Amino acid sequence: MFILGGTSAKNVATNLTHCLRQPLLRTTYMRFPDDEFYVRLHDNIAGQDVVIVQTAYPDQKIVELLLIQDAVHDAGAKKITVVLPYFGYSRQDKKFKDGEAISARAIAQHISLHADCVITVDPHKEHILKFFTVPAYSCSAISTIAHYLKEQNIDFILAPDKGAEDRARKAAALINCEYDYLEKTRIDGSTVKITPKKLDALGKHVAIIDDIISTGSTMAQSIKELKKQGAASVSVACTHGLFVGGAKEKLLAANCDEIISTDTIETEFSKVSTADCIAETLLKTVQHIKN
Ligand code: R5P
Repeated sequence: MFILGGTSAKNVATNLTHCLRQPLLRTTYMRFPDDEFYVRLHDNIAGQDVVIVQTAYPDQKIVELLLIQDAVHDAGAKKITVVLPYFGYSRQDKKFKDGEAISARAIAQHISLHADCVITVDPHKEHILKFFTVPAYSCSAISTIAHYLKEQNIDFILAPDKGAEDRARKAAALINCEYDYLEKTRIDGSTVKITPKKLDALGKHVAIIDDIISTGSTMAQSIKELKKQGAASVSVACTHGLFVGGAKEKLLAANCDEIISTDTIETEFSKVSTADCIAETLLKTVQHIKN
């Protein structure tokens, strides 16, 4: 088996080679003067299993992935597994208004063209896995995030909305602490309203957990609510740290004590590795595909 690391998941791919004790496929990536992408493979992969690791975000990285898949398919790989540490477009998972594209489905269908199996980490909603036309699996970074938070002496977990409650409950169970959730109303892409609610957070070291931090508005509003209620410290943790539109500044302005994310999108806040959970799923699913 070869592991092929795309440009948006170099660390995850390298860590996977260590976890699975498999070589990294040698590649050349380049951009032409007009910014079009170029890929060339340097190992003979005919008849081999190849695991392509590439975060499908932002748009350019999706095109890179499609070209890499084309090269791997053309070189005669036996099985192609695509690992998407972060699956971009997953939040547009249905038509919210008539005439919209179901973006998650559109991207999934294109990725499926040269894939035998897809693995992604903490998808926004599990049902997006069905958009792939090949077997698709998810794994979760929640236990590794919880392990990190436990070491920071976090003693209260908060979900910023009902959709994140399940993640908060799982993390709290692993840490062995209390959890709660808030009610969030999204006004637009970068504005949210958090309904005030009495939380048992007085004097506690709280971590707010979500799948994605994008503009940071959800977290910033939640931090303010917790600080108002006397939390001793408030950290924010997510699987996918997009940190767009001044998110970092927004979180710091809200007096956030620590920002934690995984390496599905590599940023200065990538403190938790997803390689173990991906490796575990790969071992199960690649075996499953072979049988
Ligand atoms: C939405 O349902 C997600 O789970 C996150 O809560 C959302 O993407 C966070 O966005 P933002 O950081 O822009 O508030």
